[in-house]
Amino acid sequence: MKRIVLILAAMAGVAACKESGWTKQEMATIMDQGMVMYVTTVPGDSTILRTKCTEIGPKELKSEELQTLIAKMKATVTDPSQDGVGIAAPQVGISRRIIVVQRFDKEGEPFEAYVNVKIDSLKGEIVRGREGCLSIPGLRGIVPRNSIINISYTEVPSGTTIKEQIEGFTAVIFQHECDHLDGILYTDRADSLFTY
Ligand code: NI
Repeated sequence: MKRIVLILAAMAGVAACKESGWTKQEMATIMDQGMVMYVTTVPGDSTILRTKCTEIGPKELKSEELQTLIAKMKATVTDPSQDGVGIAAPQVGISRRIIVVQRFDKEGEPFEAYVNVKIDSLKGEIVRGREGCLSIPGLRGIVPRNSIINISYTEVPSGTTIKEQIEGFTAVIFQHECDHLDGILYTDRADSLFTY
């Protein structure tokens, strides 16, 4: 009898976990930190930085954890200790397809979150610009990027797919952050690298 109760309790535990969609470890990483999260860096955190991220499912889309994660990613990238223009979820220890990008192409240059974002097409001319990364301190590089991109992403919490064309420096940030979701770092694409 005791064994059956334990098995049922274990099954309930699995069901509860599936219900929210987040793993226990993900929930702890999101909920147990202050607003400014620990930022993963190479070489110590290379495993998560080099792992392809998984999508956000319908259950996570409506969860409190997603709202909290997005708020904390924005607080982290804008914190004076980081002062970045974009951040991807693996940089805060979450291997999911979420990025935050500063929209220099919008009034007020707001930081906005994009879930399950992907680049559908790369267009325009190739432009070489200077890039750095919060996960690679002390380094900069010259990276070729497309000047125009078409993206699609999942709207939170409706789940509607939104398509958008992005140009200029904001398009460069999207390319850099979307690369993070596939375990690619700008140093993989850079023509040249230099310390500062
Ligand atoms: Ni980066």
